[in-house]
Amino acid sequence: MSKHIETTAITAGRPPVEPDAPLNPSVVLTSTFHSGGSIGYGRYGNQTWTALEEAISALEGGQTLAFSSGMAAISAAFSILPIGAPVVASNQGYSGVMSLLNSFHASGRLEVRFVDVVNTQKVIDAMKGAALVWLESPTNPCLDVADLPALISAAKKLGIGVAVDNTFATPLVQNPLAMGADIVMHSVTKFLSGHSDVLMGSLSTNDPALYKRLHDSRSFNGSIPGPLEAWLALRGLRTFPLRFKQSQESAKELVIRLQAHPKITRVRYPGFGAIVSFEVDGSAEQTQKVCDSSTLIAHATSLGGVESLWERRRRWPIESPSVPEQLIRLSVGCEHVDDIWNDITTALSSI
Ligand SMILES: Cc1ncc(COP(=O)(O)O)c(C=O)c1O
Repeated sequence: MSKHIETTAITAGRPPVEPDAPLNPSVVLTSTFHSGGSIGYGRYGNQTWTALEEAISALEGGQTLAFSSGMAAISAAFSILPIGAPVVASNQGYSGVMSLLNSFHASGRLEVRFVDVVNTQKVIDAMKGAALVWLESPTNPCLDVADLPALISAAKKLGIGVAVDNTFATPLVQNPLAMGADIVMHSVTKFLSGHSDVLMGSLSTNDPALYKRLHDSRSFNGSIPGPLEAWLALRGLRTFPLRFKQSQESAKELVIRLQAHPKITRVRYPGFGAIVSFEVDGSAEQTQKVCDSSTLIAHATSLGGVESLWERRRRWPIESPSVPEQLIRLSVGCEHVDDIWNDITTALSSI
């Protein structure tokens, strides 16, 4: 019988059991390996990365490659496409990815067809002749949800590759590879590592040939993680299901309370996960003041850690103008829900 995800997160990526073997993998700090083995050099592989990769594979399926950041993982996935390849992608999503895709499109590196991922038929219509469909679901920060089973199956019928950024949903909510996707990507920086102390990314795939091409991309672009960061990420991953479930439970409760708050005009929440986006009844400046007024919730970018964080996304010049000026993205951490709520209401009372 396959184990539950809580158990898998704790047991995967451990050294073999033998007398006096360590329970945890070691941090292998070396650039250089003696000849005759399968690694060869520190840019091609590392035992600490392998332990983390095994654990992510146990959660998402397939074979995994760890990268120096989520963006490095995403860049590797695009790097294997031919010059000018048509790519279908959401017209709103994580601003770093949007900036990258816009620059690829402007330079002719890729021909990006931007679509509204909620409109399943429009996405399918845009797929004709495409090399890859890049899906982020739910999207950051508007939390739009794509119909992944329908889109993946349509892409497969057309013989088009599909990659899914699963950072927000995590394998506790959805398994894109099991739905037929070719690549599942994580900003490991977020929920999987969960302590706001490492930047890391991952790509997992069921396709050995694709794995080899992505491995070559990582080796020759040099977008490798540090062994210490890989170790920290694996240590954080052990408690990912527990943290995520706690944060999700609090997020659901906060959604109910926010919906009833007179200074909130709209709450966006897909029904799962630990990210809540809501709009304040006020100006951009007033919304900024709310974020500045918290004392428990850190006013900072990023998400997925044990610490609650929030920010007004439009404070970033690269954020899409389609994101409302008054939108606050809240990443719900593992503090007590009443303490988070008290901080939210106190901050809202500043305007
Ligand atoms: C959905 C999503 N994908 C990718 C990334 C990029 O990950 P990283 O910051 O680890 O490079 C982020 C970062 O916020 C994100 O939210």
